[in-house]
Amino acid sequence: MAELSDRLHKKMNEQIQEEIFSAYLYYSMSAWFETKNLPGFGHWMRCQAMEEMMHAHRFYNHMHERRRAVELLEIKKPEYKWGSPLEIYQAAFEHELHITGKIHDLVKIANEENDYTAEVGLLQWFVNEQIEEEESTDAVVQKLNMIGEDKTGLYQLDKELGMRVVVVPPLFKW
Ligand code: FEO
Repeated sequence: MAELSDRLHKKMNEQIQEEIFSAYLYYSMSAWFETKNLPGFGHWMRCQAMEEMMHAHRFYNHMHERRRAVELLEIKKPEYKWGSPLEIYQAAFEHELHITGKIHDLVKIANEENDYTAEVGLLQWFVNEQIEEEESTDAVVQKLNMIGEDKTGLYQLDKELGMRVVVVPPLFKW
């Protein structure tokens, strides 16, 4: 297997930073929900944070399998104040659009460098995953818009989101 180029190495280090920051942001969102007595929303966000750490691990493993050391970069403090559940999920959706852009940049670079191991073996999975990431956050935005100011609807949605489970794929390498 060919060694990763310096350019892709740098970009993958940055992507690990993006993924771990995503986890940090979703933990922060979870903490906000816990203080608002919405434990189901808080649980959903912690599940999301765990998934982000799995995303970071995929890059981490790929880099080491190709004999390039991971260089962990600084993680900035995430936002921690929001005005409403809707505001949070809109911010989460926007964040996922940002991550999709980063994944597409990586695909472009891998393609320019004829690195099919990265492009097909690693990044194709992320292209599909980002469709799901955008869809799952936007789905909650749509539900919150439907609910409006209805407290019973919010209570029901909290219960629904509290049922989320994180599925670790078979053979996933931590
Ligand atoms: Fe790792 Fe939510 O994208």
